Amino acid sequence: MTTKENIIETEHVLDFKSKVPHIIKYMGSKSSLLKYLVDSINEIYEGENICDLFGGTSVLSGSLGHNVTIHSNDIQEYSAVLAKTYLGNYNWSEFESLIDDVIMIAQRHVDNVYQLYPELNFQYDTELDLNEFNAIEQQQQDLIYFDFEDIEHHLFIKNYSGTYWSFEQCLWIDALRIAAEEYSETPVYNPILSSLMFAMAYNAQSTGHYAQYRNANNIASMKDIIIYRNKEIVPYFKKKLNELIESTGHNRFNHTVTSLDYRECLDILPKGTLVYADPPYAFVHYSRFYHALETLIRYDYPEVLHKGRYRTDRHQSPFCKRTEVVGAFEIMFEKIKEKNSKLVLSYSNSGMISLKKILDIAQIILGSEYDVFSKAVDYTHSTMGRSEDKSREVKEYLIIAKPIK
Ligand SMILES: C[S@@+](CC[C@H](N)C(=O)[O-])C[C@H]1O[C@@H](n2cnc3c(N)ncnc32)[C@H](O)[C@@H]1O
Repeated sequence: MTTKENIIETEHVLDFKSKVPHIIKYMGSKSSLLKYLVDSINEIYEGENICDLFGGTSVLSGSLGHNVTIHSNDIQEYSAVLAKTYLGNYNWSEFESLIDDVIMIAQRHVDNVYQLYPELNFQYDTELDLNEFNAIEQQQQDLIYFDFEDIEHHLFIKNYSGTYWSFEQCLWIDALRIAAEEYSETPVYNPILSSLMFAMAYNAQSTGHYAQYRNANNIASMKDIIIYRNKEIVPYFKKKLNELIESTGHNRFNHTVTSLDYRECLDILPKGTLVYADPPYAFVHYSRFYHALETLIRYDYPEVLHKGRYRTDRHQSPFCKRTEVVGAFEIMFEKIKEKNSKLVLSYSNSGMISLKKILDIAQIILGSEYDVFSKAVDYTHSTMGRSEDKSREVKEYLIIAKPIK
């Protein structure tokens, strides 16, 4: 028999998509924990709008955006592009020859650059010895000092040739980035940029992030790098854009996407929004690992420094600093309480502060007005080549806080 309680419960069950098109390689992406996460949200869910406060890959938007209004936020602008890609409202029949059209515009840029600078032609022959290979890499890296005055759009060929990507791959990145601008007033702009981010990730010779590119110190590493140097941006771009076209369509929800600091985002959030928070938990700043994606989206010719060619204005998160992390959590709990919001917070047992410390902060700030409980799941966390071990067994905590009515 169906009781009234049962009806109320089933009315508020979030249905989620388990297969969200994968776009970027990202440390700490929750794509493999989606079911656990959504099941946990469902335990306290009563029909609220949802805010993904630290969106990252925006996979939660991809998973839920078809059945609930989402506010996706992250301080990094590339995350907004990913969220808008998943949450967009598309009428693809208006863009039937999109992929061919974008590639045609990009091809014009590529041809133009080769015509203006015929000397910039670097071939990765499989017969190269280590010295010859490193000389070709160095010539490309030195393009950072080259004056590209004759060609307006040259950010990637100047800053990144011979680093994460070859000159030719950078040329196509610039070309497709420029082609995307032709669509900047349409919803398909974001899927175009996302497909380019995917192609960049799978052509890069680094291990899934842009903190450091690999050096060819011996024949084996040279041969491995050559595999990546000989990949092409365009087939990856086409494959992802096709997949996005096939997997997205009309979306009737009025979603919001912002690139704000979490404090500002919480300030503008309507009262009672359910907040999912997945802040960084390690001392490494996301902005150092994914600066190249931020630069692709902003395309603002930033000053870059160090071997990794990081933008000098990259964001430093308070969650990644020992002296600021406690304060960062305190502010989060205070603002959650101000909004009378439910909170589902992800954290790791290898994080900057312990679960006990987070629960203590929650207790002090949320006090008797909230029920707070935690749960844990074993999780294999990818280190993206940051450490000797490629992945690590960690415990992923969920701290759930809900106002007592
Ligand atoms: C653990 S990742 C989130 C991963 C995401 N849940 C996913 O599944 O892809 C943490 C994110 O917090 C963002 N971030 C760091 N500091 C922030 C701040 N002060 N305000 C907003 N976002 C911030 C980072 O850019 C990063 O994308």
